[in-house]
Amino acid sequence: MQVYTSKAELSAFISKKKHPVFSLGFVPTMGALHVGHLSLVKAALAENTLVVVSIFVNPTQFDNPTDLNKYPRNLTQDIQLLETLSTTALLVYAPTVKDIYGSQTKSEPFDFGGLESQMEGKFRSGHFDGVGTIVKRLFQIVKPNAAYFGEKDFQQLQIIKKMVELTGLPVNIIGCPIEREPNGLAMSSRNSRLSDKELKTADLIYKTLKSVKEKFKSEPSEEISQWVRTQFKNHPLFELEYFQISESETLAPIQQKNQTKTYRAFIAVFARDVRLIDNIALN
Ligand code: PAJ
Repeated sequence: MQVYTSKAELSAFISKKKHPVFSLGFVPTMGALHVGHLSLVKAALAENTLVVVSIFVNPTQFDNPTDLNKYPRNLTQDIQLLETLSTTALLVYAPTVKDIYGSQTKSEPFDFGGLESQMEGKFRSGHFDGVGTIVKRLFQIVKPNAAYFGEKDFQQLQIIKKMVELTGLPVNIIGCPIEREPNGLAMSSRNSRLSDKELKTADLIYKTLKSVKEKFKSEPSEEISQWVRTQFKNHPLFELEYFQISESETLAPIQQKNQTKTYRAFIAVFARDVRLIDNIALN
């Protein structure tokens, strides 16, 4: 598999490949790849002639230096995993911070129309400006026809769609379903930092979301939120950071339930300093 670490070399290679019937797929990641990431790569391979996977732990989207430093990195293993999917139609772009940011590792400010002020945006200051900045730069470098993102980070998916609308970049954004461990825990690179006991007990997160979905049919959302808080109150392993039911499009918190709208429930939980997020479609 070809691995590019410089944007100049990657662009040169891709521009040689491009011809009218060629379709380029793109899967941006921060590495420490797992089955969730691979599901995006498989979707991209099924729909495109060539697929670029970027592996880059983007410093500007981390509000917490410990989280950035402890973020798992394993390029050799990532490449081996990708090689199980394709050795000919897949290439990796694993740039250095300098290749992406030059001498100024800084975010560009975006106005995502309020999407950024909910949930992850509220609890991780500057996070979505960092995500918008890196994904915009990667789109400008890779120039994909289609890019694949997981619903695991549903707010991020909406933010990227908005960024594409704002910038007019010609890329089709495809959302892909959440891949889960057998016990229901959403797959995440951060799961590797959980102890065996935490991993086992973290099934509580998805179990709670499934009950929320059931309750949403008949119970008021404020009662449901209260119930979720009691599930985590005084829990020996997990601390609830937020739970929110939002409209799927605007991500605004639910007010009066409206039959014509779709809603999702979002949750963030800490196991010590490991932050886990998940979400579920409610209707
Ligand atoms: P990362 O967390 O590595 O995730 C890369 C992509 O994999 C994202 O689109 C994410 O939603 C998707 N993904 C992660 N876990 C998944 C799961 N269990 N099921 C399905 N998809 C899953 O998200 C990022 O990196 C970064 O913010 C990035 C977009 C690369 C910008 O730096």
